[in-house]
Amino acid sequence: TVTPEAPAAQASTESAPQPVSKEVTILFGSQTGNSQGLAKQAGKTLEEKGFQVNVASMNDFKPNQLKKIQNLLIVVSTHGEGEPPDSALTFHEFLHGRRAPKLDDLRFSVLALGDSSYEFFCQTGKEFDQRLEELGGTRIHPRVDCDLDYDDPAAEWLDGVISGLSEAQGAISAPTQAAAAPASGESAYSRKNPFKAEVLENLNLNGRGSNKETRHLELSLEGSGLTYAPGDSLGIYPENDPVLVDLLIKEMNWDPEEIVTVNKQGDVRPLKEALTSQFEITVLTKPLLEQAAKLSANQDLTELLSTGNEKLKEFIEGRDLLDLVQTYGPWSGSAQDFISILRKMPARLYSIASSLSANPDEVHLTIGAVRYQSHGRDRSGVCSILCSERLEPGDTLPIYIQHNENFKLPENPDTPIIMVGPGTGIAPFRSFIQEREEQGAEGKSWLFFGDQHFVTDFLYQTEWQQWLKDGVLTKMDVAFSRDTEEKVYVQHRMLEASKELYAWLEQGAVVYICGDEKHMAHDVHMTLIDIIEKEGQMSREQAEQYVADMQQQKRYQRDVY
Ligand code: 2AM
Repeated sequence: TVTPEAPAAQASTESAPQPVSKEVTILFGSQTGNSQGLAKQAGKTLEEKGFQVNVASMNDFKPNQLKKIQNLLIVVSTHGEGEPPDSALTFHEFLHGRRAPKLDDLRFSVLALGDSSYEFFCQTGKEFDQRLEELGGTRIHPRVDCDLDYDDPAAEWLDGVISGLSEAQGAISAPTQAAAAPASGESAYSRKNPFKAEVLENLNLNGRGSNKETRHLELSLEGSGLTYAPGDSLGIYPENDPVLVDLLIKEMNWDPEEIVTVNKQGDVRPLKEALTSQFEITVLTKPLLEQAAKLSANQDLTELLSTGNEKLKEFIEGRDLLDLVQTYGPWSGSAQDFISILRKMPARLYSIASSLSANPDEVHLTIGAVRYQSHGRDRSGVCSILCSERLEPGDTLPIYIQHNENFKLPENPDTPIIMVGPGTGIAPFRSFIQEREEQGAEGKSWLFFGDQHFVTDFLYQTEWQQWLKDGVLTKMDVAFSRDTEEKVYVQHRMLEASKELYAWLEQGAVVYICGDEKHMAHDVHMTLIDIIEKEGQMSREQAEQYVADMQQQKRYQRDVY
């Protein structure tokens, strides 16, 4: 629930002209929606304080307006190896390019989102912050870098920004505790207050003998008031593997029943329960190791931290908290000391695989089970293995809806769509086609799907074939990579159909890509440029510009991970 804000001392009125410095522009660059949520919330709070606020996606912002802005707030996340979100690419490039204007009158502040388990933590935010200073801007408040659990630092940043803005223009109302949870529709449930959704169905989509296990999950939203649109994601708060929790407790000689404090508010839990549901124990980060070094007399850990990032990265990769405590004991800290340095259990986001209008009060997911070996031990994905091994119909999962404006069906149901979604990347397209079937949409649709084997891995095969037969789906091309001597991927099927694909683009089709970012999405992107270059008889640069324009017009949308 949202706590009521103190009323603004000076409400803005239509008649009284506002001093210019009360105008604030908030630009967000969001991939999964967190930055967007924070930007909107900050906008709301500033408006309540009497500021005139304009909140926009970097994608929708005309860079030539930049010189007219006096107060600029940037909320941006970082992805992969330090890259900006798709919707921030053009603006980021513009600011770093030769055409970037001098911004001597600009006052700004940056809120950076990231994940400290990645080397280039909050890189994009850092770049914006540095660049705006280079261009002549002055900081309203220093940049704040947020880890996965961003609520508290984001609220502190906003308080600081409000103080900074208020001081400069002669104090409006005193800042109060600023940010609240980004509102999620009318429902009382949100990321901070998740809904306990009942599991209705939990199936393995892969056939016997497959290398893969892909769960199809159906959850009930009954009574939650939660709604979603195709393209949105579902956040799940999972529980850690009880076997791993037990091993950790045993290794440390802790008492599983010891009562520990789990947050700043002073809530308490038995240790075992806290380690199961409240904290992340499967990922190591540099800040965690730095804190842990204070709880160990072992000089090797201090040494590891001082030998530079390469060695540190090597240790962190593929290891968890159990590895850490086994490697760098003896430990001097109490269980409470350890609990206090752990990150809060982060939610996992999954692209929703159903349409709400086709399945009232339900949400469906397509989740790939993650299992692997590293450093001589079997490891598993926290959420996917919970779903695959320990979740039965009748159980509940804490969930919330994460709206994603960057992955949306075209408003006009007549607009053609091209969907590229190998593996679990298929999920949002099932939602898209269910929705279009409900709408009786007339627009053409084309699916590219790929996986390892036709017989065992064709996810939702009968549904796709039925939609194709009914004409809800116009075209389908599939690539099964391990059925033939040579690997065939979705991008090969795209290339084979390049003429027709380009014709669809020229008819205004929107292209959607969902799935693996590092390899698939990159290769598909390159293939798309190849196709445009070839069929549009363009130079490489022209073809790249064609795709950049599509991106700007929201005709090229990606949901990649
Ligand atoms: P592979 O595992 O046989 O190499 C879904 O996981 C499908 O995506 C699988 O068929 C997988 O093939 C394929 N895939 C792997 N790398 C890819 C890439 N770079 N581009 C497209 N598809 C890829």
